[in-house]
Amino acid sequence: MQRMETFKKESSPLPFLKVEGKRKLVGHLRVSGAKNSALVLMAASLLTNEVVYLKNVPQLTDIDVMSRLLKAIGSKLKPDSNTLKIKASELNLSSNHLPYELVHALRASFVCIGPLLTRLGEVKIPLPGGCKIGTRPIDEHIQGLRRLGANVEIENDHVVAKAISPQKKLIGARIKFNCKSVGATETILMAATLAKGKTILENAAQEPEIQDLAIMLNKMGAKIKGAGSSQIIIEGVNHLNGSVHSVIPDRIEAGTFLIASAITRSPLTISPVIPEHLEAVILKLQECGCFFEYSDPILRIIPRKNLQAVDITTNPFPGFPTDLQAPFMSLMTTVKGRSKIKETIFENRMQHVGELQRMGAKIFLENDTAFVAGENSLKATSITGGDLRSCAAMVLASLAANGTSVIQGLDHLDRGYEDLSQKLNAVGASIYRCDNEVGKVSKPATKKYEDTQIFYSGTEVA
Ligand code: UD1
Repeated sequence: MQRMETFKKESSPLPFLKVEGKRKLVGHLRVSGAKNSALVLMAASLLTNEVVYLKNVPQLTDIDVMSRLLKAIGSKLKPDSNTLKIKASELNLSSNHLPYELVHALRASFVCIGPLLTRLGEVKIPLPGGCKIGTRPIDEHIQGLRRLGANVEIENDHVVAKAISPQKKLIGARIKFNCKSVGATETILMAATLAKGKTILENAAQEPEIQDLAIMLNKMGAKIKGAGSSQIIIEGVNHLNGSVHSVIPDRIEAGTFLIASAITRSPLTISPVIPEHLEAVILKLQECGCFFEYSDPILRIIPRKNLQAVDITTNPFPGFPTDLQAPFMSLMTTVKGRSKIKETIFENRMQHVGELQRMGAKIFLENDTAFVAGENSLKATSITGGDLRSCAAMVLASLAANGTSVIQGLDHLDRGYEDLSQKLNAVGASIYRCDNEVGKVSKPATKKYEDTQIFYSGTEVA
C-alpha cells in the first residue's frame, strides 16, 4: 500500500520498473523460446502454403509485430499460448508491398524478402531504415539475391526484387558473404530452398538460430547440409511442406540470467539450456570465478563471492555474443580489477555506458572499447535503457545497486524478454512495474498477438 502511494507521487507518463537492489536471488529460472529464432521461423512459414506449427514461441512485442506483418500480407495466424499456427496459403500482395510501419518497427522482418521472392518470383519491401545500435546495411542480402538470379533495385525507399528467369525461379549459385551476417545468411538460405539447383553459401553465419532454421526447413522438405558451419549447401526443391517445430531456448535470455546470478552473487538454476550455445559466455563467467554444473537441460551457476575482472571481445558465434556485451559490462562494474570490453559487431552499441556511469560506475570509453574499473559500488538512480540489451543491462546493474532504481525504456525490454520482472521476482528480486501514468503497479501485460499496438517507431535488431 505504502509502495503504491510512493508510485503515485512519482508517476511518470512512461512505464517504468522500480528495482530494489542488493537482494539475494535463489531458485530456478525458466528460459523462454529464442526471439531471434522464432522471428525467422515465422518468416520461413511464407515458403509453404501448408500449415506450420511453431511451439515455444515467446510472447514478446517483436513477435507481435512479425505476426501483424504476416497477417498484413495474407497469412492466417492462430496463437494458442506459446504455440503459433501459421498458414500462408493465400498471400495477398495486391498492394505489392509489405507495410512500411511494420518493416520499419522490426528490422528482422526484412528477412521476409528471401521466402517471398523465391515463392512468388517478385517482391517489394520497404528499406528497413536506421537503427539505434549503428548503421545496418543490407548489402549482403541484396548481393546474395542478385547472385541467385534476381534483379534487385532500390526504388523510392523500397527494395524491389524480381527473379530474372522466364519461370520466375531463382537459380542456385555459389555465394561468398563478405561478412558474417545472421540476417543475410537467413535470407539467402530461405531463398535458396526453392531455387533451381545447388547453392553453396560460404562465410555463412554459424549462430544456433541458423541451425534451428535449417532444421525446420529440412523438416519441411528442404535439402540443407552444413548449417552451423561456415559453409552451407542447399539443393533446391520444388515444394515445401508444413511442419511442427519447437523453437530453441533463448541463449541470450539464458546468458542474462547467468549474469543476474553472478551480479547478485547468488546461485541459481536455469533451464532449458543448450550449453554449446553459451560456451563463450560460460567460459568468461568461469574465468571470473563462477562454477557450473550441468544436468540436461538444467544449468546450475554458483558464483564465488569475490569475482575477478575479465576482458571480452564480441564476435560472431561461437564468439562472445554482442547481445550480451551490455549485460556483461554491468557485471564487470561490480567485480575486482579492470576489464576491457571491445565491441566489434555494431558501432553504436555502448549506450549503456553513460547510464552505468550515472550509477557510479568508472568506465572510460574509447571508440569501440570500454575500460571498466570494477568494484565501485553502484548507486541506484533513474536510468533509461536505450535499446533492448542496454535495458537488460540496466535491470542487472539495478539488482546490484545500493537503493531503489527507476528504469525507463521498457518498450525495448518487452521486445526481447518475456516477463523478465516476474521471472526475477520469483527468485527473490524486488521489481515493481508501473505501466501507466497514474502510477498503477501491474504485472507486465500478457501479450496477445492480435491486439498488440505498435508503440515504438525506431528500428532495432538485437
Ligand atoms: C542478428 C540478431 C541480433 C544480433 C546480431 C549479431 C536477429 C533478429 N538479430 O541481427 O540480435 O545482435 O545478429 O549477432 O537475429 N552487415 C553488413 N551487411 C549486411 C548485413 C549485415 O555489413 O547486409 C553487418 C552489420 O552491420 C553488422 C554485422 O554485419 O556489423 C552483423 O550483422 P547481422 O549478423 O546481419 O545482424 P542481424 O542479423 O541484423
